[in-house]
Amino acid sequence: MKIFLILFGLAALLGILFFYGCVRSSAPTLSLNNKPAGKVLVVYYSQSPNQNTKIVAEWIHQQVGGDIFEIEMVTPYSDSYRQVLEESKRDNAAGIKPEIKPFKQDPADYDIIFIGSPVWYGTYAPPVGSFLASTDWSGKIIVPFCTHGGGGAGTLYADMAAACPKATMLEGLAARGSNVVERVLRRSTAHKESPDLVIAWLNRILE
Ligand SMILES: Cc1cc2nc3c(=O)[nH]c(=O)nc-3n(C[C@H](O)[C@H](O)[C@H](O)COP(=O)(O)O)c2cc1C
Repeated sequence: MKIFLILFGLAALLGILFFYGCVRSSAPTLSLNNKPAGKVLVVYYSQSPNQNTKIVAEWIHQQVGGDIFEIEMVTPYSDSYRQVLEESKRDNAAGIKPEIKPFKQDPADYDIIFIGSPVWYGTYAPPVGSFLASTDWSGKIIVPFCTHGGGGAGTLYADMAAACPKATMLEGLAARGSNVVERVLRRSTAHKESPDLVIAWLNRILE
């Protein structure tokens, strides 16, 4: 009886560990058909404590390789959500391009640049505007991606295309931020935002 209980306990423990491992992992089930040709950079701005856009940037980087840079403000927005709303609204309305920190390598050295932003007031966040204005994007391929709170990409793709008219823009990706973070932090697989979402999109655009 005792040995039966021990074996039963062990089996239950293994089952729990296996289940937890499956749920916890965000391992993709799809695979990438084609790597992008040329030198690749993934660059993103991410502000909220959940770092939704950073998570998606890392999913993209895991697939396409190359380098990954974070856009950081010299004077970051406030940690308070209410104040960020006000500060960024002010910058947005006035077309202010806040100062951002320099990168270790010039983004102009890359051929294909994935640019990620949270959707703020229906478009990209002001520090991403600073990044877009920092370089002449002639001959580059720009691929936008964003995370949002339920409102979708808004005019982010069109605004990014207008900010770098000399670049070729590919189809963007918009992921709902709360679903990204549910997937990664709370281990829920009930949401469609996952590395597979990124791979399916990359397979569409990188033919
Ligand atoms: C200043 C501000 C403005 C926002 N505006 C929008 C919006 O217009 N539409 C939307 O769907 N979500 C909006 N959100 C929600 C963010 O886009 C969403 O939480 C995003 O995933 C945050 O990404 P991050 O974690 O990388 O900062 C806004 C959030 C902030 C702080």
